[in-house]
Amino acid sequence: MAQYDVIVIGSGPGGYVAAIRCAQLGLKTACVEGRSTLGGTCLNIGCIPSKALLHASHQLHEAEHNFAKMGLKGKTPSVDWKQMLAYKDDVIGQNTKGIEFLFKKNKIDWLKGWGSIPAAGKVKVGDEVHEAKNIIVASGSEPTTLPGVEIDEKVVVTSTGALELGKIPKKMVVIGAGVIGLELGSVYSRLGTEVQVIEFLDTVTPGMDAEVRKTFQRILGKQGLSFTLGAAVQKVDATKTKAKVTYKLRKDESEHVIDADVVLVSTGRKPYTDGLGLEALGVAMSERGQIKTDDQWHTNVPGIYAIGDAIDGPMLAHKAEDEGMACAEVIAGKHGHVNYGVIPSVIYTHPEVAAVGLTEDELKEQGRAYKVGKFSFMGNGRAKANFAADGFVKILADKETDRILGAHVIGPMAGDLIHEICVAMEFGASAEDLALTCHAHPTYSEAVREAALACGDGAIHA
Ligand code: NAI
Repeated sequence: MAQYDVIVIGSGPGGYVAAIRCAQLGLKTACVEGRSTLGGTCLNIGCIPSKALLHASHQLHEAEHNFAKMGLKGKTPSVDWKQMLAYKDDVIGQNTKGIEFLFKKNKIDWLKGWGSIPAAGKVKVGDEVHEAKNIIVASGSEPTTLPGVEIDEKVVVTSTGALELGKIPKKMVVIGAGVIGLELGSVYSRLGTEVQVIEFLDTVTPGMDAEVRKTFQRILGKQGLSFTLGAAVQKVDATKTKAKVTYKLRKDESEHVIDADVVLVSTGRKPYTDGLGLEALGVAMSERGQIKTDDQWHTNVPGIYAIGDAIDGPMLAHKAEDEGMACAEVIAGKHGHVNYGVIPSVIYTHPEVAAVGLTEDELKEQGRAYKVGKFSFMGNGRAKANFAADGFVKILADKETDRILGAHVIGPMAGDLIHEICVAMEFGASAEDLALTCHAHPTYSEAVREAALACGDGAIHA
């Protein structure tokens, strides 16, 4: 029986990062993973494959809509779906093998199989029981389902099935206008599918900045996605090749039925803790099925820690990674810390949407005095040259102190631009600090500086 300082259960971004940091800190570490490749949902059936399809479909969109304008004439590429899926699978393979390499490099044992915890200090994988002074549960999440909707991953799919459809559907109904629905809806819309998004609330991407939501829906609408908001899906009747979606409009209770070749159910995710044996161990769980932890990721059972999607907080790979590193440091007797106030969120559509910190609605709720600095990409030369001038940067700063409280970006490379604002917020910077920082011309990041200038004496190019 092997003895470890730490066994991590799950090799997603939370788990594999925790394992690497534990090993770097001199702890004898193993990671349990039952999937045939490392990397969890994110690398195998989530973030990475969806980004490959977003990239490929965006290239097609550029060829169809913008090439001729730039004098690039000739045949527009046609879609070889099999090859596109093969490209996506190749990207997955490169990334999952990369983690395997990092495990070898850091001398981390991969315990192959599904793990459970028969008692504190013990992890069972297959027929073998391994001893560990510390156990980190990083078991991630799984899609939620809806009553009256049965997933077959062929016609009625979650994100998993949507990443490997047999063919590009003519008509797709997306249930839920959240991150997954809009990213994957965009992919298929660009590939020629008629995409209709049905959302229970009266807005897309609830929780994001209100102006961003409005602009985002307008832009996606222009790209061809259609939205039915304020609608509750009642049921989905599916055959092997088609589906009928019944929904009720909340405003007048009228019932509607629409046909689809594929229905994507993207109504959220829930913690995945099945089969771990947590209940028998007496590990405290929340009503929403999340493992309860303190601010150092200890559960109520000594020696068992939990991180990532399985605990409270945004279900984001990078939040899990940060918790993984910090939890490893706590186990090694150091000080692990995650600043939950500065966790960016990004939607990788085109344009991208990114946010960090508080929204205006949250500031109003808190009764805070704030100012808004906003700058449109229409005033950014680089964005104009690249057909990417739709969108804006909005910075929210404290009215008295000028300290940055939040930022919301919709526009080109928003997911990268947000990070200079994250760094500024980590350092407690004011909008003026950003505004006084020289930004190279011509770059998209000048729009960030202009928004910061707009918090003070005004943007130059507005
Ligand atoms: P989500 O929470 O982002 O969106 C779910 C949407 O479905 C919400 O707008 C909600 O109002 C709606 N909804 C819920 N029940 C409904 C119903 N019965 N009928 C119609 N609409 C309904 O969830 P999503 O998109 O499934 O993503 C799951 C998780 O994965 C999220 O926490 C997300 O942050 C994460 N994720 C993050 C990505 C990123 O960072 N780029 C990419 C993909 C997923």
